Amino acid sequence: MQKQVQFMDTILRDAHQSLVATRMSTEQMLPILEELDQAGYYALEVWGGATFDSCLRYLNEDPWERLRTIRKHVKNTKLQMLLRGQNLLGYKHYPDDVVESFIEKAIENGIDIIRVFDALNDLRNLTTSVRAIKKFGGHAQCCICYTLSDVHTNEYYVALVKEMEEMGADSIAIKDMAGILTPANAYSLIKAVKAVTNLPIHVHTHTTSGIAEMTYLKAVEAGADIIDTAISPFSGGTSQPATESMAITLKELGYDVALDMDRLKVIADHFRPIKEEFREKGILNPKVMDVEPNTLLYQVPGGMLSNLLSQLKEAKKEDKYEQVLQEVPVVRAELGYPPLVTPMSQMVGTQAVMNVLSGERYKMIPKEIKDYVKGLYGQPPAPISKEMQQKIIGDEEVLSARPADSLAPKMAELQAELGDLAESTEDVLMYALFPNLALPFLKKRKDPFHDVPIQNVTVLF
Ligand code: CO
Repeated sequence: MQKQVQFMDTILRDAHQSLVATRMSTEQMLPILEELDQAGYYALEVWGGATFDSCLRYLNEDPWERLRTIRKHVKNTKLQMLLRGQNLLGYKHYPDDVVESFIEKAIENGIDIIRVFDALNDLRNLTTSVRAIKKFGGHAQCCICYTLSDVHTNEYYVALVKEMEEMGADSIAIKDMAGILTPANAYSLIKAVKAVTNLPIHVHTHTTSGIAEMTYLKAVEAGADIIDTAISPFSGGTSQPATESMAITLKELGYDVALDMDRLKVIADHFRPIKEEFREKGILNPKVMDVEPNTLLYQVPGGMLSNLLSQLKEAKKEDKYEQVLQEVPVVRAELGYPPLVTPMSQMVGTQAVMNVLSGERYKMIPKEIKDYVKGLYGQPPAPISKEMQQKIIGDEEVLSARPADSLAPKMAELQAELGDLAESTEDVLMYALFPNLALPFLKKRKDPFHDVPIQNVTVLF
């Protein structure tokens, strides 16, 4: 029997998040939703990541309404979202009641599969989410943040997968947010994971470093069940490999691929002019399409490389770039090898820049780094030495409990704060996650002229 390989298209989430800063509007998606539903995908990634933030910040859209609209038109295919565990869609820990309510409403409004991860792979930060996903009838996809270091071995990942299965995971995702998963490493990692679990394995990578298609091929050879791709106009660069190209390749190699190639063509035809529009408006920066093999050489995500360079340019210290790149892995080792994913990538990068520019290592330390060492983000993958701990936080205490254990329930308080601006629990959650964006949005919804100054009107007869 042919081995089946399934596809999740990222066009409605990661693809436009990676290439055009999450600026695609619901209106641009709407005409093609039925076609996407009929194309034979395992799932469509439609929500989470930066979509919620971008809807409110740039598009004046209610993110919940987008989800309901997509669900109305996508009746058969599963809808998937990306969730940062206890951080939901942000960078801080939320109390358990907020996490539970958010997951309940996400599922109620149309989400089937929730891919849940923690930046440090601290599984304690996933427990509340996974419990809630199961409670409200969703599919819990537990996700490994893939990174490379002395401690991030196949054995380390296999142990994580076993724990995830015990927690109740319905499937496992390997998320290579930085595009550093090479074909050889993908093959050996997935073989190792497949040896200990029968759960479906879903692989996610980015084409940043020019190897993603090869990585998927080896991943599939090792037994991966589902791969993340993007319909061609929004594929490549910092996005995912093209759906059509991967489908043709795998079909020809004898894999059972359920995708309807004619429909994929119709879908691509729909998104091509939309990409052109983003290009003309300058929202699609040509730089995101560049191949960045330095990501593999330095094992630093592409986005982080460009951030470091712009930080140094601002300080007129571009000549220190090489030195900072050498400093990044040293800082990372000293901090217990956190995966270089948001927000850790920014934090490690900033510390490395400060260490180089100030001329004395750890002379300046950002508050976030101190909080991290105090355990406020969770447990680092490897222990931080007593010496480093002393240098960064002195004699301050390190939290050993799950960070959210110290957070009191908050939904009732948030509800009270909003008063009659909140028409639903969804509104309260919007406010919980992005208070500064939700407030003007909700006020405008109630009264479109709420921020228009009242003027003296001369009535003419
Ligand atoms: Co991604």
